[in-house]
Amino acid sequence: MKIKNDIFLKACRREKTERTPVWIMRQAGRYLPEYRKIREKYDFLTMVKTPELAAEVTLQPVDIIGVDAAIIFSDILVIPEAMGLPYKMEEKIGPLFEKTISTREDIDALSAEGIAEKLSYVTSAVALAKKELAGRVPLIGFAGSPWTLLTYMVEGGGTKNFKKAKSFIFNAPEEAHLLLLKITEAVIQYLSAKIEAGIDAYQIFDSWGGVLSKRHYLEFSLPYIEKIIMTIKKQFDTPSIIFSKGANHSFKEMSETGASVIGVDWTTTLAEVRKITGGETAVQGNLDPITLFANDKVLEKEVEKTLADYGNGEGHIFNLGHGILPDVEPSKARLLVELVKEKSKKYHR
Ligand code: CP3
Repeated sequence: MKIKNDIFLKACRREKTERTPVWIMRQAGRYLPEYRKIREKYDFLTMVKTPELAAEVTLQPVDIIGVDAAIIFSDILVIPEAMGLPYKMEEKIGPLFEKTISTREDIDALSAEGIAEKLSYVTSAVALAKKELAGRVPLIGFAGSPWTLLTYMVEGGGTKNFKKAKSFIFNAPEEAHLLLLKITEAVIQYLSAKIEAGIDAYQIFDSWGGVLSKRHYLEFSLPYIEKIIMTIKKQFDTPSIIFSKGANHSFKEMSETGASVIGVDWTTTLAEVRKITGGETAVQGNLDPITLFANDKVLEKEVEKTLADYGNGEGHIFNLGHGILPDVEPSKARLLVELVKEKSKKYHR
């Protein structure tokens, strides 16, 4: 089906658009009363595993906030689960894994086979969301980066200092590479299946790429992201977005992976990223998520500054520099989207 509003996909390819497209990381989530209403009846994993529910919350921000792309409601942790590590989502704590990875035997026991079949609930949700979107806006799919998934598999949940995950790469680098490669294989199968099911672009969430030294980032995170992108490229021309939060030291290297878009957090400037990547990739970002707690005047100024910072021309996708927080007022998110739509026109003449 032809997509009516395809400016997000055009911007991924640095093609001409009338204005800057906008979507919001974690837009399908708890800040929406419509999400919380469904969430009262079902736990998180039930929602993730029920295509009708996942498709419904995927569409909510398109209807309510007016974003230029939908992102499939799911979680990055479906991959560890499909590989053999089940988890629970604990209220106020976050994900918790029953088992964790620490030895070669643990890695050998993981399976990177039949991932598409095991995650057919996601591909069904994708197909259903595509159908319900009826071509209004594109649908984004996603996966965690191998390094970010490794942190959860080794730590068993969230962490402040990444002591176990980082010790693992210091003390057992060969095993770490073995595990990263296995996760990479699973992610490739998973994203390929989602592309076949209908996603129009995909983002790799490397939420914890920035906790590594540059040296370690270039050894343990980026090469596996690159392998995913290069392998998928052989079969599909689906645009790809790398979001390695905090890895501001490696924009050049990211742009050399073949990715279509580099996602940027709020701690740097879009002008700088544009300069470093030489306009070879599109750039996504990068409003500080806390700006949504500022007054409307300040929000307007910050949107204008972010647009001006990227400057004239194509290849900017407006987004926050990380996920929207659960206590944001939906009206603020709506205002943000309206402001971007209005204020960005002058950069595309
Ligand atoms: O962007 C979207 O709206 C699509 C849905 C989406 C979710 N998780 C739904 C979710 C996406 C893209 C993710 C990615 C994800 N999941 C990441 C990377 C993105 C980032 O923000 O850095 C990470 C690290 C996870 C793992 C995860 N999932 C954690 C640590 C938690 C608990 C903390 C939290 O944010 O609640 C989750 C739960 C989660 N994933 C929720 C949602 C809507 C909240 C669950 C609830 O309803 O209670």
